[in-house]
Amino acid sequence: MEKAAATSSLARDEILTLLLADMGSAEIVFAAADEARRHEAGEEIRVRGIIEFSNFCRRDCLFCGIRAANSYIQRYRLNEDEILGICERIRTLGIGTVLLQSGEDSEYSSDAVCRLVKRIRENLGLEVTLSIGERPAEEYRAMKEAGAEHYLLRHETADSVLYEKLHPELSLTERIGCLEELKRLGFEVDGGSIVGLPGQSIRSLVSDLLLFKSTKVDMAAIAPFIPARGTPLAFESASGRLGRSSVFSASDKEETVAEFVLKLMALTRLLLPKLQLSSTSALASLLPRGREIGLRAGANVVMINFTPAAYKEMYRVYDDRICTRETGEEAMESLKKLADGLGRHVA
Ligand code: 5AD
Repeated sequence: MEKAAATSSLARDEILTLLLADMGSAEIVFAAADEARRHEAGEEIRVRGIIEFSNFCRRDCLFCGIRAANSYIQRYRLNEDEILGICERIRTLGIGTVLLQSGEDSEYSSDAVCRLVKRIRENLGLEVTLSIGERPAEEYRAMKEAGAEHYLLRHETADSVLYEKLHPELSLTERIGCLEELKRLGFEVDGGSIVGLPGQSIRSLVSDLLLFKSTKVDMAAIAPFIPARGTPLAFESASGRLGRSSVFSASDKEETVAEFVLKLMALTRLLLPKLQLSSTSALASLLPRGREIGLRAGANVVMINFTPAAYKEMYRVYDDRICTRETGEEAMESLKKLADGLGRHVA
């Protein structure tokens, strides 16, 4: 721990040792991460307003509730004016960045995305983060030129065999290629991983952390896996929430996954002190007070959901999302209260 705090550099096995520490010792890791967060990122909690503008997706990722083959969900797509209207609400609340997210929706062409980004930049002055999956390099370039500053693309798992099992037709190498291309184009890149996937090993969780380092992401989100209705992994975990996982056995409680998420977040803060680190909505959905606990384990970023209520239910990447319980305005209010309680403030 002292080595981590002093040098921000640990070998794979040292990270593993800290990851396996019991919760008693983990408290020390959380406290050190909180201190590093205070020192490097200050008391500001950065907010991004998210609009999930389409749940059409051509991919079939096994863990994800909006996969193409999930016929249980209704599909929707917001148009440009609807998105602009929501952006105005986001700006009214004083939030400076909008995150536009969708499935891999081929109907939203590069031209359409670029036009949308330009309108948001020119009319509202909001910063734009795009999260629309894997696209050809020339499309990424056009979106950057249109004014998008950030791009969110999670690698999900650094275990290439598991990656290919969970993402039909995709490969980890290609995903990392996209992250590298985005960096080359000058985007600020938001990466991320999922913890608790069936078949995931603890060793690979260390690789996730090291991948954040090697791809030089500017921000990371480490989310717990939450099964989604209508997916193969929901079926697999029917007898126990997490199914046949080599790390997280069927008898594991959600708390076990949450603990690993929190330890990984804290270690990520310690080893990459300057990184923006998200206290994810998945963690807040899984764990009562999850948002707060994440913010006390190294995180300094929160996403607030502004997808219209009617569509939130359809953008069910996992079940029982916290955002379906409140509007963006309400979530912003409770975040401000939470920040007050922590002696921090919302930026
Ligand atoms: N559990 C947790 N996170 C998930 N995502 C998709 N499906 C799940 C799931 N079952 C995450 C992906 C994606 C983000 C929008 O949601 O990491 O990037």
